[in-house]
Amino acid sequence: MLSVIYALLFWAATAVLVAGLAARIRKYARTPAPLKIPTTPAPTTQGGVVLRMLREVVLFESLFKSNKWIWLFGWTFHMAMWLVLLRHLRYFVVDIPWWLAFVQPFGTYAGFAMLAGLAGLWARRFLVERIRYISSPSDHLMLALLVMIVGSGLMMRFVAHTDIVAVKVFMLGLMRLRIETLPSDPVLLVHLGGVAALMIVFPVSKLLHAPGLFFSPSRNQVDNPREQRHLAPWAAKLEGARDG
Ligand code: HEM
Ligand code: HEM
Repeated sequence: MLSVIYALLFWAATAVLVAGLAARIRKYARTPAPLKIPTTPAPTTQGGVVLRMLREVVLFESLFKSNKWIWLFGWTFHMAMWLVLLRHLRYFVVDIPWWLAFVQPFGTYAGFAMLAGLAGLWARRFLVERIRYISSPSDHLMLALLVMIVGSGLMMRFVAHTDIVAVKVFMLGLMRLRIETLPSDPVLLVHLGGVAALMIVFPVSKLLHAPGLFFSPSRNQVDNPREQRHLAPWAAKLEGARDG
């Protein structure tokens, strides 16, 4: 019964995540950026823009320039999350390549780094007056959800173990549209419930900053207004109509 509920939950959550994200990205891609507004100093070539975006995604460059504390906690949290997710890949592939075996121990400790980053980010929403003032329930909700997922993950890793082989069989089964038996440990159910909730809220939440960053005109535009006149597609159309 439990296995069926969680299987349906994960299939539904995956559909919501994939369809929701695709719809959002489509919308972002079609939103006009009528103005030339790269934040300067900005790269003057397309290659430079690619490098700038890379520095944003990997190093959080502009956050580093604006606030060292938020950068420290935010960057730690995100990078640790990628490591943790990489470690989780083992539940979704049958044969484990050497590099996936290699990252396993790092992934384990990255769980603690994630928690430390989240704790710092959350503390700031209570302790810093001007951040507390602008914090909405959804800001707290996202952090709470992530803390719940990470906390239950670490619990399973170090305190209340679950049958990870059975978890793998269940996940591989889901990918082949089969329902295998999921262990019924409460901590695992909390972990997976949190993950499904995260997948469902992702396309309607602030977590959209992940794809959104790539569509940010202040970051993705080339600083070349003198060499090349910037025309939004709709403006170009109007101009074409006027010129006959
Ligand atoms: C391309 C990938 C991503 C980049 C470059 C990125 C970057 C950032 C940056 C720069 C912040 C701002 C920190 C601040 O000023 O408050 C942030 C906040 C946040 N990110 Fe990401 N992020 C990415 C993906 C994700 C994903 C996949 C998740 C979760 C599943 C996530 C969860 C969060 C959360 C919860 C916050 C808010 C923390 C807070 O303000 O309380 N991010 N991210
Ligand atoms: C369907 C997806 C997921 C499954 C099946 C899953 C399953 C598990 C299991 C079985 C463990 C215990 C590992 C052990 O005992 O060795 C664990 C640990 C953990 N999980 Fe997940 N998890 C999933 C998604 C996530 C996500 C999305 C996050 C973070 C946003 C996350 C964060 C963690 C952390 C931090 C740990 C503890 C450190 C570690 O063992 O890697 N999990 N997860």
